[in-house]
Amino acid sequence: MASYNVPHRAVLQDGLRPGSVIRVRGTVPANASRFHVNLLCSEGSGADTALHCNPRMDSGEMVFNTYEKGAWGPEERSPKLPFQRGQPFDLLLIAAEDSFKAVEGDHMFHRFSHRMPLNLVRVLEVGGDVQLQNVAIL
Ligand code: GAL
Repeated sequence: MASYNVPHRAVLQDGLRPGSVIRVRGTVPANASRFHVNLLCSEGSGADTALHCNPRMDSGEMVFNTYEKGAWGPEERSPKLPFQRGQPFDLLLIAAEDSFKAVEGDHMFHRFSHRMPLNLVRVLEVGGDVQLQNVAIL
């Protein structure tokens, strides 16, 4: 059952550190095109984004990027899109010293090397075509 409104935003007072884990559980709607999990460096619009994790069911792509000073950086694509329309998911974004590890279920599908310092992250945002069951910062 969906229990979180979308978009969902949570302020992280102390930022992230190595060992922080973001867990997002939900379901991809049957007609979904895309959704995103963003780690933003401030609360306003146009915020720098230390991680944009963007499953694209409309094109079958799994895209990661940063957004800095008003511009997207170079995209990284995972070879596999571990999200399917109509299916539940359990996504972990694990902050390590050097990278974010993206895990769905028990499968790590991407490692995204940090481009911005972890401790600058201030807001977790989940938006787009997704039903959210739970969002936790561990
Ligand atoms: C753009 C898209 C943005 C974002 C970005 C990531 O094409 O419009 O929403 O996903 O790619 O590089």
